[in-house]
Amino acid sequence: MKNCLIIGANSDIAKALAAQFAKAKYNLCLTGRNMEELKKTASDLNIRFGVQAEALFFDVLQYETHETFFQQLEPKPDVVIAAAGLLGDQSIAETDPQYARLIIDTNFTGVAGILNEAGNYFETIGKGSVIGISSVAGERGRKKNYFYGAAKAGFTAFLSGLRQRLHPKGVFVMTVLPGFVRTKMIENEETPWLLTAEPEKVAKQIFNGWKSRKPVIHTPHYWWLIMCMMKMIPEKIFRKLNV
Ligand SMILES: NC(=O)c1ccc[n+]([C@@H]2O[C@H](COP(=O)([O-])OP(=O)(O)OC[C@H]3O[C@@H](n4cnc5c(N)ncnc54)[C@H](OP(=O)(O)O)[C@@H]3O)[C@@H](O)[C@H]2O)c1
Repeated sequence: MKNCLIIGANSDIAKALAAQFAKAKYNLCLTGRNMEELKKTASDLNIRFGVQAEALFFDVLQYETHETFFQQLEPKPDVVIAAAGLLGDQSIAETDPQYARLIIDTNFTGVAGILNEAGNYFETIGKGSVIGISSVAGERGRKKNYFYGAAKAGFTAFLSGLRQRLHPKGVFVMTVLPGFVRTKMIENEETPWLLTAEPEKVAKQIFNGWKSRKPVIHTPHYWWLIMCMMKMIPEKIFRKLNV
């Protein structure tokens, strides 16, 4: 039986994705900070899909633990998914450097650190998959969330570099760029109803993209077109828009 490790497994997208891997008979190692919630999800996956699912504490911000955490995993994963993220409050970040750093570290340095550990391990065995959930927010900075967007841009660039480094070694690295997804992350945001997808739909597209070895996916797929248009808007016009 194969194993899938999820970083930030209390995320709503991660829970739906865990169900996809469980359905495909992967054992799950769910990690995060809220152990009660993780154990509930683990037990649910065990009952629904008959797979083994364990819950482990892992905080992406505790960089000093990353190497030992990964080394101590037994069995080692075949697939590692990073779903941890923090949208945060842009207006607080604009005046509180510590808070701004929390957004950047959660979405970029924290997840990049643990995925680098996974990548190094997969390189030694010549196989494995890394799936990083970034965001379309990283494709063009907007006034509404540019700390988050900048961190996601960094994470997307990290995944691109990791993929180029590990592709010749037989390791698959996938970048996921979701648009709006109906999760607790955006429950206080006003998003266009028609453009806001359910986590189950997004998880299915991620899983299918992973199975067909797509290096980069927008999910739902129409976000590819939206972001192409968004990136084409000249700065002269973009800086005046309220998007
Ligand atoms: N929802 C969207 O519209 C959307 C759009 C684009 C991209 N994304 C990305 O998709 C991924 C999943 O997001 P989601 O929408 O499912 O959000 P979510 O339900 O709010 O989940 C985010 C998860 O990140 C975890 N997390 C935060 N800081 C952490 C840390 N220091 N260590 C470990 N885990 C930490 C949280 O765990 P705790 O429970 O411990 O706080 C939470 O479970 C994120 O990377 C997000 O940026 C989401």
